Amino acid sequence: MAGRDDVAGFPLIREPLLKDVGAPGRNRRVLPAPFDVPQAVDLPGIAVLPDIPDVSEVETVRHFTRLSDLNYGVDNGMYPLGSCTMKYNPKMAEAMAEALKPVHPGDEAAMGSVLGLLFLLQQHLGEICGMDACSLWPAAGAHGELTGMMVIRRAVDAGGSGRRKVLIPDTAHGTNPASCAVAGFVTENIPSGSSGFLTAQTVEEHLDGDVAALMITNPNTLGIFEEEISEIARLLHENGSYLYMDGANLNAILGVARPGDMGVDCMHVNLHKTFATPHGGGGPGGGPVLVKEGLAPYLPLPRIVNDGHGGFALDREGPESIGMVHSCLGNVAISIRALAYILSIGPSGLRETAKAACLNANYLRSRLAGLYDLPYPTPTLHEFVLSDRAFKGTGVSTMDVAKALMDFSFHPPTVYFPLVVGGALMIEPTETEPIEELDRFALAMEDIARRARENPEELHGAPVTTPVGRVDEVLAARSLILTWP
Ligand SMILES: Cc1ncc(COP(=O)(O)O)c(C=O)c1O
Repeated sequence: MAGRDDVAGFPLIREPLLKDVGAPGRNRRVLPAPFDVPQAVDLPGIAVLPDIPDVSEVETVRHFTRLSDLNYGVDNGMYPLGSCTMKYNPKMAEAMAEALKPVHPGDEAAMGSVLGLLFLLQQHLGEICGMDACSLWPAAGAHGELTGMMVIRRAVDAGGSGRRKVLIPDTAHGTNPASCAVAGFVTENIPSGSSGFLTAQTVEEHLDGDVAALMITNPNTLGIFEEEISEIARLLHENGSYLYMDGANLNAILGVARPGDMGVDCMHVNLHKTFATPHGGGGPGGGPVLVKEGLAPYLPLPRIVNDGHGGFALDREGPESIGMVHSCLGNVAISIRALAYILSIGPSGLRETAKAACLNANYLRSRLAGLYDLPYPTPTLHEFVLSDRAFKGTGVSTMDVAKALMDFSFHPPTVYFPLVVGGALMIEPTETEPIEELDRFALAMEDIARRARENPEELHGAPVTTPVGRVDEVLAARSLILTWP
C-alpha cells in the first residue's frame, strides 16, 4: 500500500508488503527441519516450495486486519452516494441465499422449490409495481433497461410501425440513452422544466409518428417526483407510443404509489437499490423487467409456469419472445435475497422504508440548504441535489467538498451528476441511517461550508487523513499502475 508522510504529527499507517516485513526466522512456528517423520505421500510437481514471506503469525494477522480497516463500506458508516442507494442490507437476506447454496440444478425436486420462490418474487414485484408480468433474468439495472427496450422494439416491429425514436429527459441516468441505442433506437434529449420535472406540454411538443417510447426515471435523478406522469402517459398512448419507466428509484415510492397505476407500460427495478441486495459492480445483480399484459409475450425466455401438478416448471417456448438475456434463472441468489427482504418486512415495512428514506433525505436537505446552493426548490423525495455555486469566488469546488468529507470518515456523495446541475452534490442517505449518523454527516458538511468561506485554501488539500491523498484523477485513469513497483 502506497503510504503518505505523517500529517500534523498524526502517524498514518504505511502498510508494507508482507514480503518486506518478512526475514529468515521471523516465523518461529515452522515444522522442524530436517523432518523427523517419514514422508507419507509424494507430491509430484511441487519440487520447490512457493516463495512465501517468512513472517510471524501476529504480524500476518495485524497486516490483514489493518488492510481490512482501510476498506470503507456501508457496514462502516453512512455512504450517501445519490442515485446508487448504498443502504444497509440485512444479513438475514444473505443467510437465506446461503441456505440455498447446496441446491444442485440437476435436483428436480429442489429446483421446483426454487422456481416456486422465484415465481413468488415475480408476483410480489408485480403487485408492488402494479404491473402484469415480470422477468427476473436481467443481471443489473442497465441490463433491465436494455431488456425492456428490446421488448418494446419487438412490440413496435410486430405492430409494423417501424418507429425508432425514444424521448429521454435531460435528468436521465447515463445508462438510459445507452440502453436505447443498443436496442436499436435513436434517442432525443428533451428538457425538464425549471421545476426539475418533465411537463406534459414539453412531451406533447416532441411527439410525432416516429416516437416509439418515452423513457423516464421516477422519481428522477434530482429526487423529484414526476408529477405530470399520468398526463404524459395519456399523451403517449394517444400517440401510439409506450411509456418506459426507469424504476431504479422505486425505494422512494414503495407501497405508496405504483408505476402501473401511473400508466407505465414497461419498467425495470434495481434490486440492489430497493430490495437489499448487494451492489455487484456491474453484476451479479438483478434488474427485473415488468410489463403490462400487452407486452408480456415479448418478455425473455424461459418463463416460470405452473406445471399442472401444484409445482412449477420452465417454459422455454415463446415465438414472440426476445429470447434469453442471461443464463437460465439469472442471478438466483440475488433474487432470493430480494424475496427474503420483501417477506421479512411485509407491506407496511415497505411503506415505512419509503417514508423513512424520504424523511432522512429531507432532514439533511433542510439542514444544509442554507449553507449550500439548492438549485431546485421543488420538494424532493429520497435524495436531493446541492451545488458548489454558493462558494463562487472562494475557489472551493464540489470536488473539494467531496474530498474533505473523507477526513470525517464519510464516503463522498455522488458528484457532478445529474448533468443538469453544474457542480452537483447528490446526496441520498437512505432509510437505514439513524438520526445520530445523519447529524454527524450534517455537522461535517456544516464545518466544510464554514471553512469554504473562512479558509478555502485548506480544503484544496483534502483529504489529509487517508493513506492516499488527493490523486490526479485524469492521470489515474489514463496512466494505470497495475503492478507493485
Ligand atoms: C436511475 C438509475 N438508472 C439506472 C441505473 C443503472 O443500474 P445498474 O448500475 O444496476 O446497471 C442506476 C444505477 O444505480 C440508476 O440510479
